[in-house]
Amino acid sequence: MTKEVKRYTITAALPYTNGPVHIGHLAGVYIPSDIYARFLRSNKKDVVFVCGSDEHGVPITISAKKEGVAPQQVVDKYHKVIGDAFKGLGISFDIYHRTSDKLHHETASSFFDHLHKNNLFVEKVTEQYFDEKENQFLADRYITGTCPYCKSEEAYGDQCEACGASLSATDLIEPKSALSGNKPLMKETKHWFLPLNTYEAWLKEWILEGHKSDWKSNVYGQCKSWLDQGLQPRAVTRDLDWGIPVPVKGAEGKVLYVWFDAPIGYISATKQWAKDNGKDWAPYWKSEDTKLVHFIGKDNIVFHCVIFPSMLKAHGGYILPDNVPANEFLNLEGAKISTSRNWAVWLHEYLEDFSDMQDAMRYVLCATAPESKDNDFTWKDFQTRNNSELVGIYGNFINRVLVLTHKYYGGLTPERSVLSDDDRSVISELKLFPDKIAKAIHAYRFREAVMEVINLARLGNKYLAEEEPWKLVKTDEARTKTIMNVALQVAANLSIISEPFMPFSARKLGAMLGLGQLTWKDAGSDALLIQGSQIEKAELLFRKIEDTEIENQLKKLEASKLNNQ
Ligand code: MF3
Ligand code: ZN
Repeated sequence: MTKEVKRYTITAALPYTNGPVHIGHLAGVYIPSDIYARFLRSNKKDVVFVCGSDEHGVPITISAKKEGVAPQQVVDKYHKVIGDAFKGLGISFDIYHRTSDKLHHETASSFFDHLHKNNLFVEKVTEQYFDEKENQFLADRYITGTCPYCKSEEAYGDQCEACGASLSATDLIEPKSALSGNKPLMKETKHWFLPLNTYEAWLKEWILEGHKSDWKSNVYGQCKSWLDQGLQPRAVTRDLDWGIPVPVKGAEGKVLYVWFDAPIGYISATKQWAKDNGKDWAPYWKSEDTKLVHFIGKDNIVFHCVIFPSMLKAHGGYILPDNVPANEFLNLEGAKISTSRNWAVWLHEYLEDFSDMQDAMRYVLCATAPESKDNDFTWKDFQTRNNSELVGIYGNFINRVLVLTHKYYGGLTPERSVLSDDDRSVISELKLFPDKIAKAIHAYRFREAVMEVINLARLGNKYLAEEEPWKLVKTDEARTKTIMNVALQVAANLSIISEPFMPFSARKLGAMLGLGQLTWKDAGSDALLIQGSQIEKAELLFRKIEDTEIENQLKKLEASKLNNQ
């Protein structure tokens, strides 16, 4: 798209606070969005990167019931666990908000009210499943049954996780109450529907014609199949006692559908951030020169590409997402990650077991992210990538450069004299990296981008191996100094370009090299370190992972598998 961008609003899907965050969430949403936000900040762009806890909806009340506590207790617990874990991994949200916050209740409530007052909803009395024993309507996940599409027997009233289909409760074959297991009855109840059918033509034009070439094919494909099937009015209220009350007289006991309020949570989060920082939130959501990007997993595509945009369009005055770079799913050791079956690598546990190895996980999840198809995480592969790519290539290069600089020059950057052809070709190759990486990031190809970081370290290693300064140090002082100077410039560039991906190591490297606050536009330069500048002693940038550590993780997983049987 050719629009001029003045600011960026970046959203990362609000995680449900009914459990902690795992590597699937990270690879799908939080690592790519964080890389994107960090990259833009390094480019001195005006960025707000928002996220927060999604605290309403049936997933929360079901967990609360299982744990025998109030829903508020469940969300308080996981809001903290999740928020702390994100911080621990260096996910650089400008705000981590929550949908139980008063500001969000007001924002979502007035959004609904605006649509209601403008007659943009359709009110309908319909028959819904009702559990007589529990005396409760069975919305969304309170009802389970067989998926009409893939025949999975574990489909929910709103979605089938096996095939990804979005469902209505009445689509289910042999519906059962998730509360009592009983066969539900039908009972009349009134709800408010967003008439998606009236937005169908507009959505077709906006997505199918407007974003054919710039949206990922997995995203575009899902949108197309949705739109080709034709859209129906969709209920945006529920008969539940946990959520944001429907702000209409006579709607007592009804709340906003969680998928109505949650995306508005991005707006509430932006408002809170603006308030905290003395800024105006409105341009981040209403100005045509703002680029809005939603990072999500593939199960959220319809909500972010069809329903939320229709809500924004209905309301008026809001911009639409420029892109929705949804990822596919990450599996774990060949099986689907599952919160309920405890088949996962939990972020907060990883940070305990591998403290100070945030970048190893960030790196591996980026390098193997399920960008265009599902991918598999294995602990063995994690170890191999860490040991061979981070330790063996990146860490090894930095270590050699720093150790030799200390050995030969007492840690002072040596002077450079006449450049050889080899030097000149390394320098001209070096200059290409920032643009190559930037291009990949702008196209949401983060795997490709992070590979280029390793490629630059590879280039540095190859240069040292070919020039062999250790063979010249006694015989050709000027030449050795020049080689070491060039190698140091490559190291300094690595610190800048790896920051979005591996911020902890980048900062450590920057400190060892005595670099100040450098930004993306400094990258590509072969003069980041001036002659005589002090280099600190080499500290280990990455560490090797031992076989026993991997065996322990596999044992841990094996134990949860046994518990599931
Ligand atoms: N909580 C949802 C999930 O985990 C994501 C909500 S994204 C938002 O799938 F847009 F609704 F906030
Ligand atoms: Zn299905």
